[in-house]
Amino acid sequence: MPGGWRHLGRFFEIGRILARHDALFMLREAPLPPLLKAGLAGFQAVFGKHRPDLRPGERLANAMAELGPSFIKLGQILSVRPDLVGHELAEDLGRLRDKLPPFAWSEAKASIEAELGGRLDDLFVGFEPEPVAAASVAQVHFAEAADGSKLAVKVLRPGVEAAFARDLALFGWLADLSEDCLPGMHRLRPRAVVQAIAAQVAIEMDLRLEAAAASEIADNFRNDADLLVPRPDWNRTARRVLTLQRIAGIPIEDRAALLAAGHDLPQLAERVIQVFLRQALRDGYFHADMHHGNLFVGEHGRLELVDFGIMGRIDMPTRRFMAEMLGAFLAGDWRRAAEVHIEAGYVPLDPANGRTVEAFAQACRSIGEPILGKPVTEISIGRLLAQLFQITETFGMRTQPHLLLLQKTMVTVEGVARSLDETVNFWEASRPVVLAWAAEHMGPEAQIRDAVSHGLATLRRLPKLLDRLEAASEPTPVIEQAPDRKLHWLLGLIAILLAAKLLLD
Ligand SMILES: Nc1ncnc2c1ncn2[C@@H]1O[C@H](COP(=O)(O)OP(=O)(O)O)[C@@H](O)[C@H]1O
Ligand SMILES: [Mg+2]
Repeated sequence: MPGGWRHLGRFFEIGRILARHDALFMLREAPLPPLLKAGLAGFQAVFGKHRPDLRPGERLANAMAELGPSFIKLGQILSVRPDLVGHELAEDLGRLRDKLPPFAWSEAKASIEAELGGRLDDLFVGFEPEPVAAASVAQVHFAEAADGSKLAVKVLRPGVEAAFARDLALFGWLADLSEDCLPGMHRLRPRAVVQAIAAQVAIEMDLRLEAAAASEIADNFRNDADLLVPRPDWNRTARRVLTLQRIAGIPIEDRAALLAAGHDLPQLAERVIQVFLRQALRDGYFHADMHHGNLFVGEHGRLELVDFGIMGRIDMPTRRFMAEMLGAFLAGDWRRAAEVHIEAGYVPLDPANGRTVEAFAQACRSIGEPILGKPVTEISIGRLLAQLFQITETFGMRTQPHLLLLQKTMVTVEGVARSLDETVNFWEASRPVVLAWAAEHMGPEAQIRDAVSHGLATLRRLPKLLDRLEAASEPTPVIEQAPDRKLHWLLGLIAILLAAKLLLD
């Protein structure tokens, strides 16, 4: 606790910003003692505004945008965890975008020279001091190399690492406190959430890792004319500076410009879907932030992608699971859809508590049938998956963060495709990619090849597997609290600390 007092200043500021955006709603609904609730109402009256015109998630997103990079990251992470915050809130947090005034050119220049160990004029022949984009973590400048190649240079915002370190320490302290002091909090796994933020932050604070991500996707698509991924310029890249080959396409949200350039929008819509599926299914490595701002269209309708801070990886068994599960859904084979989950070990059977294959198949039918009954152009795979994960949760499926990231990205990709062509048919667009992949990886031969190559590894893992089997045979705890309530506990704690700070001032 003593270390905790140093967090209180920041804590108070956070409370004030939340109040100003009318984002203390969760505390008001939290099961807190009446005195504390009265104090909170007073706090809101003094510092707060009332914004009935906005949804709770929108108010929280606005507050987080103002609270800075670590909260923006927290919002992004919670936006892919509807299991923790509920679905509406997750969706609203998913729209959290950050845009900030640029930092000074002198700072950018100093940082580039320190990081790359040379004078700017020796490193680049032309460097545009005016950035093309500025966000909370970094800003991007255009430049040129001596050989005439056009470059984009991303520079980390000065002080951003320190800001993250301070807020992560505060989050960690809160997580420890809440897990130790509040019964039931461990279900929300605050420490795990903070660890997830810290891991993501560590990746985004080291632009060499972003360069490597760009390079890996570029390699995966080297023989694929549908997508261009800018290559990193390793000689001009360091921890805080990333130099990429510059792309020159039209922003994908600029519909008028796309049409003026003669692009076929329905074809582009299909290409967006296919390029995403090839990453996820064929390569098992996908760009998990495929929103409008990161996509461009170049010559011959080739897509161009930037911003490799958030990436997802899915292994081969998971890819098989996804392909088989979607296949079963599309065929309306509910029993198979249920079995696939059980075979993958995601859904534990527990006949004594009514968790049978049949019951799970019935649940799959309850979400699959109404969706399949709709016109194909209205069917969303992303939403189907979201509903499916909701159901699997009630069947004791442990949250699979990588699947949630995949599902959320699918919703984004569908949104981009639909903005290009309202009538895009997701199933038709996916078919060639899924069929090509299935032919290679899901036939009996592929299964045997896989089994042989994994056989040794499995043998080595046998003792661990046995442990897991033993653990799996114990009944899985059922979630007792509604997801929203779990967050209320954390916010309740925040309220207590805010009250303490107020008393101290
Ligand atoms: N390689 C590139 N070529 C051309 N423009 C780029 C390139 N990389 C980034 N940009 C421009 O800079 C903007 C911000 O870059 P991005 O990597 O998306 O940063 P952020 O993580 O802040 O969103 C992009 O939306 C794009 O307009
Ligand atoms: Mg971006």
